[in-house]
Amino acid sequence: MMRILIKNIKQLVQVEAGRTSCFKKGKEAMQSLPVIQDACLIIENGVIADFGNAGMLVEKERGHFDQEIDAKGGFVLPCWCDSHTHLVFAKSREEEFVDRIKGSSYEEIAQRGGGILHSAAALHKMPEEELYDLALARLETAKNYGTGAIEIKSGYGLSVEGELKMLRVIRKLKENADLIIKATFLGAHAYPPEYRSNRKGYVQLIMKKMLPQIADEGLADYIDVFCEKGFFSLKYAQVILETGLQYGLKIKMHTNQMNSFGGVQLAAGKGALSVDHLERMTAGDIKCLSESFTMGTLLPASAFFLNNRYPPARALIDQGVIVALASDYNPGSSPSLNMQFVVSLACIKMKMLPEEALNAATLNGAAAMEVENQLGSITRGKKANVMITKPIPSLPYLPYSFGENLISRVILNGKT
Ligand code: NIG
Ligand code: FE
Repeated sequence: MMRILIKNIKQLVQVEAGRTSCFKKGKEAMQSLPVIQDACLIIENGVIADFGNAGMLVEKERGHFDQEIDAKGGFVLPCWCDSHTHLVFAKSREEEFVDRIKGSSYEEIAQRGGGILHSAAALHKMPEEELYDLALARLETAKNYGTGAIEIKSGYGLSVEGELKMLRVIRKLKENADLIIKATFLGAHAYPPEYRSNRKGYVQLIMKKMLPQIADEGLADYIDVFCEKGFFSLKYAQVILETGLQYGLKIKMHTNQMNSFGGVQLAAGKGALSVDHLERMTAGDIKCLSESFTMGTLLPASAFFLNNRYPPARALIDQGVIVALASDYNPGSSPSLNMQFVVSLACIKMKMLPEEALNAATLNGAAAMEVENQLGSITRGKKANVMITKPIPSLPYLPYSFGENLISRVILNGKT
């Protein structure tokens, strides 16, 4: 047995001993974030075995440790669970970033064949091995920011062959990376040029050709649709999601990013795991979510990067929607894997309290990937995916010092 001791922890954060919750819903739950001062943590074979205040070590049979890690007065938290990314792509898109500075909008760029289609063209040309190497290097970056679990979407393939290529890259990442990874099929991300005047044809291709093969090879955990004006209509989103459900894929959906026209109601009505973005929410949209178990995943880094409005996090939390935070990492609307910055934005731009933001980026993020039994809190029996911060004065200091990487060490499955 491999035993590790982490000692000199100034604060052990997000401790859920005994009674554990699957997610935090509502203001009171979101604002509760139990901590232990002057703590230590014991890991056995990659699993959280025990924790307590430093005195615990003296009282209990200390035993032998294969490794002792000195947290040097840093805080220890469960790793970030980043439940929405587009991590597999061929190249960055900084030309569009400059175009937007000059006045073009995200939609205009998409309409003239840039945006997602630009990424699709580049991905088409790149061999699977190269895509894999790029993605693996990005996972390394994510890890250095403290991410221990991540969801990755397809959606830059937009052809049977391209989508399968992306999903196979994700499968290979699952097999080789030490983070927990979930795969989402997002064939309905944009219409490829050859189907520009035959949208129905592309929707048929997704349902009749892509989904059967993806299900056959077990390549996806979830199905997603970019439901937005100029992208996938409510009607097409509905048939695609229904077909996905028939193949056993639960729903996640990009919706209410630029417009509110029923996406939330459609997804919640089908028992979606999460609806993501939610920059434009009516009172009815919020009520609908609060009466469901569909989570709201907020992506403030993409609102920041596109100068879009921010999701109404306060109203969502206060009215009892289960809220998660994710990076939306992608080359077009959120080229950053820094979950610490996402948490800062949540506090600064959406008025989430630090405790709420931390819950949303850990336990609720885990729930948005259905790994809440394994990750998202410091709980005996959960995977030891934890991060150690540099010495910081308090928990709010984490979102306060925005843009800085305060993580000094990341431990995944008990390995640094
Ligand atoms: O979540 N909104 C749609 N999809 C991505 C952006 C993808 C891209 O621009 O490449 C998003 O923001
Ligand atoms: Fe996205």
